[in-house]
Amino acid sequence: MVREDLGLTGSKKGCGIGDCGACTMLVNGVATFSCMMLAIQADGCVVETVESLAENGKLNKLQQSFVDLGAIQCGYCTPGMLMTATELLRRNPHPSEKEIRLALSGNLCRCTGYQKIVDAIKAVAGE
Ligand code: FES
Ligand code: FES
Repeated sequence: MVREDLGLTGSKKGCGIGDCGACTMLVNGVATFSCMMLAIQADGCVVETVESLAENGKLNKLQQSFVDLGAIQCGYCTPGMLMTATELLRRNPHPSEKEIRLALSGNLCRCTGYQKIVDAIKAVAGE
């Protein structure tokens, strides 16, 4: 619904069964696999997709860090990674590497080997 009806195509459909995290959105601030949710369950909730992250038409710090540190290859997992990392950094602005890896444990990437994604989040967390 978000992709087809609202045209917000940033969130990706991966597995469709709650295994990959490509569809992650924030629902009332909580990272949520949207493929596991009915639209009616979001009624009255604040839903944030990757489209909400840019500031004044520019990538925000976290998005730019992903670009600068090579944390994006095919990009399919990236919107979900960004939303999961956004939630983490809001509740814990200076996470350890272990906390970052734990937060990302539900988001699969088939390209980067994860280290660059962790580095990109650490770079923002270290500011
Ligand atoms: S599409 Fe894989 S968890 Fe939703
Ligand atoms: S960058 Fe390709 S799946 Fe993560």
